[in-house]
Amino acid sequence: MSEPKKLYIKTYGCQMNVYDSERMAEALGGKGYVETQTPEDADMILLNTCHIREKAAEKVYSELGRFKGLKAEKPDLKIGVAGCVAQAEGEEIMRRQPLVDLVVGPQSYHRLPEMEAKTRQGAKALDTDFPEEDKFEHLKSRPKAKRGPTAFLTVQEGCDKFCAFCVVPYTRGAEVSRPVDRVLTEARDLVERGVREITLLGQNVNAYHGAGADGDWSLARLIWALNDIDGLERIRFTTSHPNDMDDDLIAAHGDCPKLMPYLHLPVQSGSNRILKRMNRSHDRDSYLRLIERIRAARPDILISGDFIVGFPEETEEDFRDTLDLVEQVKYGQCYSFKYSTRPGTPAAERPQVDDAEASDRLQRLQALLSRQQRELQDAMVGRTVGVLFEKTGRLDGQLVGKSDHLHAVYVQADASLLGQVAQVKIVESNTNSLGGVLV
Ligand code: 5AD
Ligand code: SF4
Repeated sequence: MSEPKKLYIKTYGCQMNVYDSERMAEALGGKGYVETQTPEDADMILLNTCHIREKAAEKVYSELGRFKGLKAEKPDLKIGVAGCVAQAEGEEIMRRQPLVDLVVGPQSYHRLPEMEAKTRQGAKALDTDFPEEDKFEHLKSRPKAKRGPTAFLTVQEGCDKFCAFCVVPYTRGAEVSRPVDRVLTEARDLVERGVREITLLGQNVNAYHGAGADGDWSLARLIWALNDIDGLERIRFTTSHPNDMDDDLIAAHGDCPKLMPYLHLPVQSGSNRILKRMNRSHDRDSYLRLIERIRAARPDILISGDFIVGFPEETEEDFRDTLDLVEQVKYGQCYSFKYSTRPGTPAAERPQVDDAEASDRLQRLQALLSRQQRELQDAMVGRTVGVLFEKTGRLDGQLVGKSDHLHAVYVQADASLLGQVAQVKIVESNTNSLGGVLV
C-alpha cells in the first residue's frame, strides 16, 4: 500500500470551525488522508477561516502567500480555503491567489472528496452554495475511533437576527436546525467513542427548532433527551441570543441534572440607544430581568458574555451604561471587542468612533471584566465541584480538567481518572486556574 496522504488543517475562529475541521478531516479520511501537524509534510493544506475579526480576508491572503515556497518545492501540494472567508470571497480567492486549488464554503464540506479528486486532475474546485441537504449526513465517520472526553456537536447553523455589525447572516446564511434523530444518533456515537461532555453548537443555538417525529423540538427538549443518554455526563450549549431564552430552557438550568451551570449570553452593550442601533431587539432591562430569572432557576450559574465597544455613535455616556450593566450582572468570563467595520453590514456606513477613544474604552471594560472574573473564580475556593479530567498536568501526578463552571482545575490524581468526572474540593485560586483536592 502507498503512504497515506497527509492533511494539514489550520483552524481559525469559533468552536463551530473546530467542529467543522474535524468533519473535514473525517471526510478526507475516507480518501486516505491522515492529519499532520506540520504543513511541510502535507499533501493538502486547508485553512478553515473565520470572518468575524477585522481584516479577516487580508490575513488569509497573507497566510496563503507564505505557502508559495512549499508549493514551488512540491507541485502536487493542494491548497484549499474553507470557512466563512471562503464563503464571503468565493472565486475572488482564486483570482487573487492563484496557488489556491480549492474553495469550499461551510455548507459544502460533504463535497470535499469529489472536490479533492478534481484538484488531483489539475482543475480548480469551488463550492460556496447553500444547499438544502444536511451537510453532516454525507460525512461518513471513519471506523469508531476513540475520542477525548469532550466534544462539540453542531445542532444549528446560521442566523436570522441581522445585528447591524455582524457578517454571520451573510456568510453562514439563514438559520437551519438539524433534525432531532440525527443529533441524538451523533451524540450516542460520540458517547460510545468515549465522550463524556457534549457542547451543542450553533450561532444561535437556543433558537434551535429541529424536526422531531412529532413536530419541531426546542433546545430544552433536545437537552432533556440528551440527559437520558447513559454514559453522557455533561451537557453545555453555545452561543445563545437573549430573545431565544424560553421558559423551558431557563427551567432546565434548574432541573436538568446533566446541564452544566454555565451560560454564554452575549449582550454586546448596556446602552438602550446603542442596542437599538445594533438591531439587537432586546434592551438593557429585558436582559437584566432575564439574568435574574436564570439565576432564580440556578443560583450558582456562571454567566459569560460578549461586548462590543466603540460601536458607531457610541458616546461616553453609552459606554458608562455598559460598565454599569457589567457591574449589575457580574460576569464569570467575557469576550470584549473593539468594533470593527464589516463591509456590507449596516453599521459599516455609519459615523465611526475615534479609534483611540474606542481603545481606551476597551481597556477600561476589560479591566472591570477581569476583576469580576477573578472575584467569581476566587469565590470557588472552599466549594466542592465536579471536574472532568481531560489531560495530565505539568507536575508529576497532576491531572487537569474543567469544573462544572468551566474553570480549569489542577488536581493531584491518578491517571486512571482521565476521562472521568470526580468531586473536587477547591483549595486555591491562581491567575487562570483553580487548584483542588479529590474528595
Ligand atoms: N466588530 C467587533 N466585534 C464583533 N463581533 C461580531 N461582529 C463584530 C464586529 N463587527 C463580536 C460580537 C459577537 C462575537 C462573536 O464577536 O461580540 O458576539
Ligand atoms: Fe451575528 Fe449573533 Fe447577531 Fe446573529 S445574533 S447577527 S450571529 S451577533
